[in-house]
Amino acid sequence: MDSLLVIKSAEYEKSAVRQDQFPGGDLPEVAFAGRSNVGKSSLINCLVRRKKLVRTSRTPGLTQTINFFRINDLFYFVDLPGYGYAKVSMNVRAQWGPMVENYLIGRRNLRGVVHILDARHPPTPDDLQLWKWLEESRIPAIPVLTKVDKIGRAKWEACLGQASVSIGVQRGRLILFSAENSQGRDQLLTRIHEMMQPPEASGPPAGPTPEI
Ligand code: GTP
Ligand code: MG
Repeated sequence: MDSLLVIKSAEYEKSAVRQDQFPGGDLPEVAFAGRSNVGKSSLINCLVRRKKLVRTSRTPGLTQTINFFRINDLFYFVDLPGYGYAKVSMNVRAQWGPMVENYLIGRRNLRGVVHILDARHPPTPDDLQLWKWLEESRIPAIPVLTKVDKIGRAKWEACLGQASVSIGVQRGRLILFSAENSQGRDQLLTRIHEMMQPPEASGPPAGPTPEI
């Protein structure tokens, strides 16, 4: 599977702080996680090509609820509150909040997480802790380095090298992204598309699979 996911429609559905407020039904979901102010909401707007679908801000900590956006009437993008705003190290359970942890652990519809890191800086201890936690929790994750428009092209290789060593993934798995100029958009949409295929679609025998 290597096809680009085409976004035909995107609409805000609801915000939730508890499980009973999450959308009903069994549409698949992809969640977007990362440090406060790293650019999660801007990245979603870029993917759906809508400047203001999701509210963004220079002030960290804007997104405080779990926000569901219905895409193509077939799946959800889920914008999560950021972590690491309080000046304490992230403990997924205590600091980032049981709200997000319960969502990530308990949500059957969740197919995976797009983990957004800042291309300008090495991953923070909070970033590393979330990455490890996702791995241990067996939640598929796509690492994305965003705001790459803010660093010169000459630094991209070093940035990829540093992130790949610190989170322990091959360079080829990292996506350089910019919500400013859409760099990495097609690559990320393709990876999200792959992540949303039902598990049986990845192994033989190759039967007919529902198209998303
Ligand atoms: P919280 O909801 O507070 O956790 O923040 P967030 O992660 O959703 O960040 P948001 O998308 O609101 O962006 C934070 C700031 O970074 C805004 O001022 C954006 O305009 C800016 N920003 C986000 N992505 C990019 C990018 O790719 N390039 C540049 N140059 N600026 C960006
Ligand atoms: Mg936000």
